[in-house]
Amino acid sequence: MVMFDTLVSLAKRRGFVFPGSDIYGGLAGTWDLGPLGAELAHNIKNLWWDHFVKKHPENYGLASSILMPEAVWSASGHLDGFSDPMEECKKCKKRWRVDEIQGRPTSKRTSDVQICPECKGELGEVRQFNLMFKTHAGAVAADENAVYLRPEIAQGMFVHFKNVLDTMRPTLPFGIAQIGKAFRNEIAPRDFLFRAREFDLMEFEYFVRESEWEEHFEKWRKEMWAWVEKVGITKDLVHELEVPKEDRAHYSKRTIDFEFDFPFGRNELYGLAYRGDHDLVEHAKHSGADLRYTDPVSGEKFLPHVVEPTFGLGRTVLAVLLSAYCEDELGGEKRVLLKLDPKIAPVKVAVFPLVSNKENIVAKAREVFEMLVPQIETRWDDIGNIGKRYRRQDEIGTPWCVTIDYQTLEDDTVTVRDRDTGNQERVSVKELVSYFQERLK
Ligand code: GAP
Repeated sequence: MVMFDTLVSLAKRRGFVFPGSDIYGGLAGTWDLGPLGAELAHNIKNLWWDHFVKKHPENYGLASSILMPEAVWSASGHLDGFSDPMEECKKCKKRWRVDEIQGRPTSKRTSDVQICPECKGELGEVRQFNLMFKTHAGAVAADENAVYLRPEIAQGMFVHFKNVLDTMRPTLPFGIAQIGKAFRNEIAPRDFLFRAREFDLMEFEYFVRESEWEEHFEKWRKEMWAWVEKVGITKDLVHELEVPKEDRAHYSKRTIDFEFDFPFGRNELYGLAYRGDHDLVEHAKHSGADLRYTDPVSGEKFLPHVVEPTFGLGRTVLAVLLSAYCEDELGGEKRVLLKLDPKIAPVKVAVFPLVSNKENIVAKAREVFEMLVPQIETRWDDIGNIGKRYRRQDEIGTPWCVTIDYQTLEDDTVTVRDRDTGNQERVSVKELVSYFQERLK
């Protein structure tokens, strides 16, 4: 697999990912998507939405607020339970997550190792560190207007369970899905996009009858594997881990982690959890709202149980880039390429005039470019020689390069060059759009 530093530097150099607040030296745990990263992330989100929401009409979309009051987090158990065990070095004051010292599993047991890995100073007691970012709504910073940046997007789905019931009249099983930001004050943000303090989640809560949770758990487990394949993550690098009880989140009765072989070790990519009725029970109790579902046939009222597939967007971007990164030799020359699935590639087609000093070739290339732009993500490139342009596009994963040359002026055909094989074929300009659309299906 690619060296991690090589990928991180490609990501910055080619405009995929920049350190947050870069010109001020960066802000730990924040990463910003550059022009190509924003396109890639956008395409991944659309593909996810299509796979898990549009293709499952029983799943409903939602976009809830990032700020939520203390009452929500008290009910959900995050105020008391959403913490990581941490040890502080008495000498250099550096804080460590206990699992960083002990390695996996990330259980909350006390470490036997008492030595700081950095300065070899003595580590203090293990303390629980709550990961939520707290702030205040309004002018007065008082306890009664404390609000939190959501550490998980799931609570939006539970808080709006009744609104979705009342407005959409769904019948079980059904899901509520959203994509959005989550914030965690990680003790030790690290490994690029892997552990950030601000990140995006794609997730849904699937509401089921208690007696049926296992079959739905299995169904979504299979769909998660289908997603791994669809988005272009190398399947062989993904492994399921049955998370032991002591390592599960406070709300979970069963969790499977989908782990990925990152260059820094095998670690969680996605999660699939059975949350039971924990969240609806607690929100009903704390809010006083009647959150029961009414069976349309029997009239029975009950709180459904929940199966939750969850996907970090940053970790997806990372796994996709790691899976796509290749180095090979083409025409006797070494090259770097990203074998991104065309569906998520930030640029699908690059259009080149063969030479940039021949007016009629440039004009024809512009015409082809203008024709493609409304249909498909297309970029113009006329800098350097053709070989350099190919290398540049290979490195950002552009699946096809279109060159307008002298022959184009005679027979209205262009060359289409395939990123992975380097093979070129002549395609008539009037068939170009359907040529790409066919390959993007
Ligand atoms: N609602 C369930 C939930 O939030 P989680 O396992 O705590 O579950 C979900 O987080 C996903 O978010 C993880 O599987 C991972 O992909 C991603 N994730 C978690 N912490 C992260 C962090 N600090 N930085 C980037 N992604 C993170």
